Amino acid sequence: MKTISTMMMKGGSGKTTLTRILASAALARGMKVHIFDVDTDPQALGWEASFNRASWGKIDKPAWRHDQLTISGAVADMDEIYDGYDRMEAEGYDLVLIDTRPGANADTEDLILATDLVLIPTRPEQSDYSVAERTLEWFEDILQTVTPDSPIPALRTVLTAVPSKMISVLTGDLDIVSLTPRDRDALQAVMDMPHALTVIPNSKYWREIAAWGPLGVAAEAANSQPAGRLQGGAMMDILAGGDALLDELLAVIDVREAAE
Ligand SMILES: Nc1ncnc2c1ncn2[C@@H]1O[C@H](COP(=O)(O)OP(=O)(O)O)[C@@H](O)[C@H]1O
Ligand SMILES: [Mg+2]
Repeated sequence: MKTISTMMMKGGSGKTTLTRILASAALARGMKVHIFDVDTDPQALGWEASFNRASWGKIDKPAWRHDQLTISGAVADMDEIYDGYDRMEAEGYDLVLIDTRPGANADTEDLILATDLVLIPTRPEQSDYSVAERTLEWFEDILQTVTPDSPIPALRTVLTAVPSKMISVLTGDLDIVSLTPRDRDALQAVMDMPHALTVIPNSKYWREIAAWGPLGVAAEAANSQPAGRLQGGAMMDILAGGDALLDELLAVIDVREAAE
């Protein structure tokens, strides 16, 4: 069982969306996932309710996968997390995601140290990456407080909500000079951080993920209905990016474990 947390001093950067993206990709692989939503504004906790409320128009909604995805809210103390790990490991869970609250909170420090990998999401905008840089410094400060022999989590910043033009530059389909100086600065800033190689595009499906539920499940349902084929195909394309990120992050954790 692997554990991944999000961490970011400011809200609105895509922490919760990233958590849902990884859950979507993991479910599509048949993995069993638990999300601890410890945000004081628990968006992920209400995922099933927002999915139930949402209208899918002409497409019939699939059943929520209770067998593969569980979500719980605020925890009283760290024992609740560690006891949860023990129970989930015994119940065959493959992945635990912890979505923390924004701000430099002491509880977040304990939570991220209880995971294999910490993700700092950032949009390619100065208001985000400048805070991501400060969050990185905070992470380094936290590492100073742990005893020398205790395992420390790996860390990656993740560039998210990336506009299509910037994606084209990253894939080599467009020359970097076609970006504005501000966008170039943003890319440079992210490259200078310990970033994941996979970036997450700005996508309508990720923006609407609260309504779609885990995207692989949604894509499968949409694809099986004539009215949903077009959307289903587009969802699969977008999900592939989430799968690539999950793949990369699981490999980072494996390498770290092998080195220990
Ligand atoms: N990759 C993305 N594509 C499109 N919209 C996104 C993406 N990531 C986040 N968003 C949108 O940005 C807003 C903030 O994202 P959210 O994940 O709630 O941030 P946080 O949890 O850090 O506060 C939400 O409206 C979300 O739908
Ligand atoms: Mg959030």
